[in-house]
Amino acid sequence: MGSEDIWIIGSNMTKFGKHPERDVVDLASEASVAALHDAEMTMSDIGVIGVGNLMNAGAGIGQQLQKQIGQTGIPVFNVSNACATGATALRVAIMAVKAGETDVGMAVGVEKLAGAGLLGQKGPKPKSETWEPSGRFGAIGSTEGRIGTNIMPGVFAQIGMEYGHKYGGTSFELFAKISEKNHAHSTLNPLAAYQKRFTLDEIMNDVMIAYPNTRPMCSGNCDGAAAMIVVNDSKLKSLPASVRKRAVKISASVLTSDPWAEGCQVLPDVNTLTRNAATQAYEQAGIGPEDLDLVELHDCFATAELVHYDNLMLCEQGGAVDFFESGAPWRDGSKPVNVSGGLQSKGHPIAATGIANIHEIVTHLRGEAGDRQIVGAKVGLAHVIGLGSACGVHILEKAA
Ligand SMILES: CC(C)(COP(=O)(O)OP(=O)(O)OC[C@H]1O[C@@H](n2cnc3c(N)ncnc32)[C@H](O)[C@@H]1OP(=O)(O)O)[C@@H](O)C(=O)NCCC(=O)NCCS
Repeated sequence: MGSEDIWIIGSNMTKFGKHPERDVVDLASEASVAALHDAEMTMSDIGVIGVGNLMNAGAGIGQQLQKQIGQTGIPVFNVSNACATGATALRVAIMAVKAGETDVGMAVGVEKLAGAGLLGQKGPKPKSETWEPSGRFGAIGSTEGRIGTNIMPGVFAQIGMEYGHKYGGTSFELFAKISEKNHAHSTLNPLAAYQKRFTLDEIMNDVMIAYPNTRPMCSGNCDGAAAMIVVNDSKLKSLPASVRKRAVKISASVLTSDPWAEGCQVLPDVNTLTRNAATQAYEQAGIGPEDLDLVELHDCFATAELVHYDNLMLCEQGGAVDFFESGAPWRDGSKPVNVSGGLQSKGHPIAATGIANIHEIVTHLRGEAGDRQIVGAKVGLAHVIGLGSACGVHILEKAA
């Protein structure tokens, strides 16, 4: 990643869940102040802030946050990049530090989504039975509900089904077992929105949202924030030993979008950009998937988790079902995936998720994950993807 390494020295996330009495500024402030405290810093040490929010705050969430926690006149970048918003806010802080504009950057992601249902979308009902061209040049007619759907639970259900058609071996039960794993993991994570262990029967008999994903197999809409402080090598050297010994190295930080391809209007491609991001990240870090001690990947639906085993190259191409069935992604398996409980249990306050996934890895590399600690974890990968499309992959390493 260039001459100077970048280090995470402060990291925090709020409890994810319902926070009806608090707004986005309250939640972002809680995570930011706690991350500063973790880094043994104050706002006067920070040289740049990247703040992500997708659905709530309108313009200027970063400035609203500054009014609450400290207005020091530094540059603020407000970012919005689908489900990769939090990862993008962190990329902003990293890029500013790497560019030499400052030695210390802060990234924050916050969202209030409790009660958003299908993210506020009304469902795939065409407005009328007749074709009504609209949009740019009056040349576009809506395909929604006529040919497939663009609503997330539908899209990601299809993506899992497509994987099964291509490689075989998938079933409703298999996808439900992935969710069973993540909900089992969540019982050890006090910050997860849902900490209940579900039986396979309970998962399969819950409300069907979009086959094969029932409700507990979908990421939970909830409220939350996460924040992180990053510094360069030279700054790190000047900090107290208590901060240095808990610092975590960012060995790769990658953001990708969809490359042009022969288009399919019905099924967005979530695979290519994730595979591209993972390839670049492994190259940047000089680390392969075999070296990872744990992975937090974007399981926005159980079906998504399966395809990302493959996209992140945790298994050979086409081998995701065998990988899951080997037990590898369980907490006590050879390649633990989503020990936090994943988005299905921890919840998915969209802009907070990109930083929260990294926070989970940081917590394990610091040896501070309590009962769910992956013992001896030295290297981890965090992944997020949002349709539109944007994908963030970060590889983190424990300080030598
Ligand atoms: C699945 C979904 C439609 C359910 O929405 P809903 O019917 O409005 O359900 P609610 O969020 O009100 O939850 C109702 C109950 O179901 C249960 N529940 C919902 N999601 C759950 C989950 N992931 N795990 C466990 N239980 C869950 C809870 O008991 C919840 O009640 P509680 O929160 O008071 O305990 C919604 O969460 C959703 O749209 N998820 C996908 C979001 C999305 O697309 N994100 C972007 C992905 S890229």
